[in-house]
Amino acid sequence: MISIGSSKINGIVEREESRYVAERPKSRALFERAKKSLLGGVPMTWMNVWPGPFPVFVKEGKGTYLTDVDGHRYLDLCLGDTGAMFGYSQTAVFEAIKEQMPKGMAHMLPTEDSIWVGEELKRRFKLPYWQIVMTATDANRFAIHVARQVTGRKLTLVYNGCYHGSVDEALVAIFEGTTINNPYSMGPLLDNPEQMTRVIEFNDIAALEKALSPRDIACMLAEPAMTDVGIIHPAPGYHEALRDLTRRFGTLLIMDETHSLCAGPAGLTGELGLEPDMLVLGKAIAAGFPAAVFGFSQEIGDKLNARIPWQNFFGFGGTLSGNATAAAAIKAALKRVITQANYDKMIPLAQRLAEGIEKIIKDADLPWYVARLGCRVEFRFRATPPKNGREALFEEDASNQGDLLKDGLTGPLEKLIHLYLANRGILLSPYHDMALISPETTSADVDYYLKILAECVNELIA
Ligand SMILES: Cc1ncc(COP(=O)(O)O)c(C=O)c1O
Repeated sequence: MISIGSSKINGIVEREESRYVAERPKSRALFERAKKSLLGGVPMTWMNVWPGPFPVFVKEGKGTYLTDVDGHRYLDLCLGDTGAMFGYSQTAVFEAIKEQMPKGMAHMLPTEDSIWVGEELKRRFKLPYWQIVMTATDANRFAIHVARQVTGRKLTLVYNGCYHGSVDEALVAIFEGTTINNPYSMGPLLDNPEQMTRVIEFNDIAALEKALSPRDIACMLAEPAMTDVGIIHPAPGYHEALRDLTRRFGTLLIMDETHSLCAGPAGLTGELGLEPDMLVLGKAIAAGFPAAVFGFSQEIGDKLNARIPWQNFFGFGGTLSGNATAAAAIKAALKRVITQANYDKMIPLAQRLAEGIEKIIKDADLPWYVARLGCRVEFRFRATPPKNGREALFEEDASNQGDLLKDGLTGPLEKLIHLYLANRGILLSPYHDMALISPETTSADVDYYLKILAECVNELIA
């Protein structure tokens, strides 16, 4: 198999970076101005993780296209890291928000829309009780609080390499066999993170049983397939073991479907018939409007209902949680956007994209693999798919190994591909190379991405 030398990669990165800068004078000027008042020159530091010395400043997003202030038009395959998975400003959702806003955006009182949302979530995800919050981070945090109250236990169990938002309990990792504070996070920096969280590798049933067996873990916070280190599918039988063992040892199972909603209209939980005790959805649940939801079982609902309201107040939700606009947006998204009909368009096109990338890799004889989860397609720089977070993070091809502390999770090869694509009007999501196929993505879009990717790869191996 072909291996690509670093001098070649660095040469192309230098050329593409110069072009990126030269062609974006307005974004660059805005970034320089922004640096004087916004930390890192952006309203949220996340926006600075795109490859290139500054991010593009957006003029508008429509369907699956973004236009920047310099007039470049991009086929956006990142789509707000799934927030806009169904395309920007979906008319049905936009109209529902517009209708609600003049009537008050948030009242700290319920509207009828929220009941429709609860009933639909109950039907779709098979859990009887729901709450509406602002972000998936919030939902995960509150779900952990609930699990602690209901079980009387303190600990959370997560997978190495997981990401569940800015949730302290999940900002941990395994390094050389020891649980450590995630070195890239602003987490709690505990002297002993094991006082809060136990961490295991995904797909390891023996490790799962060992971690649960002391019966001191309140909840397992898990994605049904890992996504943040790249898509990692569950091994056959893993979910059955996970459900069986969590039940046996009295640990509540929280499924975070924030990203895996790309698998189908009821997430991977719906596709695989999983039975979590709690379930979290964010980002795309209101088609990009800030909102998230979490649901819980009858047993948990009964325990919470038995408490006086004040006991479900502190540490649970926030003033704007459950607001009328969020309820209206989620209702419209569930009714008109997160539909089987849309997935029926998205998934076959994603399959076609995955096959196209596989062919490019095979023709070039590169040690890369392609993964797909529903409408989400990625390629990574290893010959075979990883089974867990450690393999995904630390066992990539040498050509993509850069300086983790300086460059973060974006390796040199990845940076090259992102810059090459951006200069030719395509945006991939930073650091996991995710391409999302929305209902508005066309086969011409997919063909264009494949054409540019093939040109990039051909230059790399020439
Ligand atoms: C699986 C998962 N859960 C939760 C979150 C947090 O979402 P938010 O940042 O919208 O709170 C993320 C963010 O990427 C995620 O990947």
